[in-house]
Amino acid sequence: MKKRLLIIILLALVLVGCGKKEEVKKETSKEEPVIKENSNSAVLYFSVTNNTKVIARMISEETNSDLIEIVPKEKYTDEDINYNNDNSRANKEQNDDKARPEIENKLDLEKYSTIYLGYPIWWGTVPRIIYTLLDNYDLTNKNIVLFCTSGSSGIEQSVKDLKNYNDKLNIITSKRFAANTPKTEITNWLYENNLQKGEPSVEHTKSIKVTINNKEYTLNLEDNATSRKLVELLPLETKMQELNGNEKYVYLSESFPTDSYKPERINKGDVMLFDNSCIVIFYKSFDNKGYNYTKIGHIDNLDDLGSGDVQVKFSK
Ligand SMILES: Cc1cc2nc3c(=O)[nH]c(=O)nc-3n(C[C@H](O)[C@H](O)[C@H](O)COP(=O)(O)O)c2cc1C
Repeated sequence: MKKRLLIIILLALVLVGCGKKEEVKKETSKEEPVIKENSNSAVLYFSVTNNTKVIARMISEETNSDLIEIVPKEKYTDEDINYNNDNSRANKEQNDDKARPEIENKLDLEKYSTIYLGYPIWWGTVPRIIYTLLDNYDLTNKNIVLFCTSGSSGIEQSVKDLKNYNDKLNIITSKRFAANTPKTEITNWLYENNLQKGEPSVEHTKSIKVTINNKEYTLNLEDNATSRKLVELLPLETKMQELNGNEKYVYLSESFPTDSYKPERINKGDVMLFDNSCIVIFYKSFDNKGYNYTKIGHIDNLDDLGSGDVQVKFSK
């Protein structure tokens, strides 16, 4: 284990050395975060040697999110995080499936709809304290954006492990950063993922084509993160199933960002997201008593789609 880590880190150092040199002003972490009122997103992070903290602060500044640290009840000393020592606290925790290091601070996460969750990679995955977080706080109704710092390992294994731990987590996207990542790279990543608040990140696609059983319609899109995610997935061809004589639906394997509400009336032609991955096309109007949806858009002049499943293609 020790040798592997050493090789990984050495490789990372060599790669960094070979890369184009950029003058990077390292952020300091002197001033304490300010909690902003009315923010609906928070950057929540765990960090021992401050690499993740620096990235967390930049993400919080760029997205106007609150910055919240996950503080371990028992602080990690240098010896605790000595990965060369099989008996160090961090190594023992990572080797123990059941280890759940306690969190000292109470985290007030209720008000947030989006959580940026950041952590260092420890032995290829999340530190166990992140599981303590998931055991104690329900994050399943939130949009989760994962980020990490590491010597060289990617974030993929940790994302897999978190999904395995709770498959209801709505993980929108994830990204690994090197310790000295310049702010511009973070800004670009936020733009690419439409996470930059208050500024249009990509030009809004106003409409796309929907072909249903070989007949072409226009789907006029809402200007929101959900419709943008759909545009990202185009072209998308799928079978949609019949339900209740008024809708066709399909569950996709992708999670979408949500901003759901309960519409009083569903109109013929409405295209909605149910839950965080189910696309619904309504082909009859009705008063909605029960369900919450996120708007995707509307198809004008939609025909009655009749009984049975339909073949649908969404394309640009
Ligand atoms: C116990 C331990 C295990 C680590 N395992 C890995 C690893 O598997 N892959 C890697 O690239 N870096 C590994 N690292 C390096 C950290 O991920 C990296 O230094 C990170 O940026 C530290 O973040 P922090 O300063 O926010 O605590 C490990 C560090 C520690 C302390």
